[in-house]
Amino acid sequence: MRRKRSVVTDRDTSALPRTPRARSKTPRPASAAVPRPASTPVTDPTPAVEVDLSVDLAPSRPGALVLRNPLLVASGTFGYGVEYGEVVDVDRLGAICCKGTTLKPRVGNPPPRVTETPAGMLNSIGLQNPGVEAVLEKYADQWVRWQVPVIVNVAGESVEDYVAVARKLDGQPGVAGIELNISCPNVGKGGLQFALDAGAAGEVTRAVRRATDLPLLVKLSPSAADVRAIATAIEDAGADAICAVNTLSGMAIDRHARKPFLGNTYGGLSGPALKPVALRVVYEVAQVVDIPIVAIGGVGSLEDVLDFLMAGACAVQVGTALFADPVLPVRLIDELDEWCATRGIASPREIVGAALPTRRDRPSVKGVEYRP
Ligand SMILES: Cc1cc2nc3c(=O)[nH]c(=O)nc-3n(C[C@H](O)[C@H](O)[C@H](O)COP(=O)(O)O)c2cc1C
Repeated sequence: MRRKRSVVTDRDTSALPRTPRARSKTPRPASAAVPRPASTPVTDPTPAVEVDLSVDLAPSRPGALVLRNPLLVASGTFGYGVEYGEVVDVDRLGAICCKGTTLKPRVGNPPPRVTETPAGMLNSIGLQNPGVEAVLEKYADQWVRWQVPVIVNVAGESVEDYVAVARKLDGQPGVAGIELNISCPNVGKGGLQFALDAGAAGEVTRAVRRATDLPLLVKLSPSAADVRAIATAIEDAGADAICAVNTLSGMAIDRHARKPFLGNTYGGLSGPALKPVALRVVYEVAQVVDIPIVAIGGVGSLEDVLDFLMAGACAVQVGTALFADPVLPVRLIDELDEWCATRGIASPREIVGAALPTRRDRPSVKGVEYRP
């Protein structure tokens, strides 16, 4: 098994605009914020620093996908971005992953499609979307006008499907990258099957890689028996980054009707309940790939963001938490900035992978024997 080198790049990001601080905030002075009387002992000598939140999600394609900050919004929870334009200053986000997009329009699954669970929700939307051509026609003009990169989430039933959508997105103004959804548990054909088998994951990634020069992110399923083999195959096939994770297949019962609650029987579990699973996947994958990892699963607080960075992700996506609080990612950007600045940390890149094992013989790099 290969040993992870580092996901931290040394790219000079000084040319990038700094992430603007919250408009309501008073700008922090470069040195000590509060003047002290001469007699007061200095207890914290760490000077506040100007923080560079930028992150490069496609280091081998210089400048192709450098985000202002590591807070993205997750596919399926932020529409095509325009729906939230009135509520959220979208240009403050690191990037938008738009709703799952397929070659042909899809009507999605029968209702009910969502239900709450004790620590999250189940959804079985079934990739309802108008098809890639209609998506581009309707939204690309707006995407071009934004500074925030829009990454199009692509789904399909066959390798040919994925390739056809990628070809249509290639070179389209307003499209900053592709997030390959090979891990949707809510569709019959295709979807999840690609994320459970290293050969299939590698094949679809390689085929899409050949079809486009756009930055290519591939989204893992938490259901794979050993995500490390899948992630390695995806990296070898030329992906620029890995996103981890999609939802976990689950179900709910309508006790009154004595039948499954969701119209599709099964749905994808997301929200806080998913976080420990996502964290484990990121931690495992970070030990075997060199490309950047974008963490997804139950992010709802600064603590969640820090946990994922320390487990080896260099960016995170916020999904389910947006339904309760659409401006959460913007607040998390400010909180991360503040957290770093007050600790003298010039970039969150300094803590990426901080919690990874330093020794090769730790159980997590040995195999799957530690699993319950
Ligand atoms: C309503 C809903 C729709 C989703 N649609 C998609 C989708 O179209 N494509 C995709 O890759 N993931 C989709 N997801 C999965 C999310 O992008 C994300 O991976 C997952 O919800 C875990 O993150 P969270 O716990 O922060 O929500 C969807 C999730 C939800 C809740």
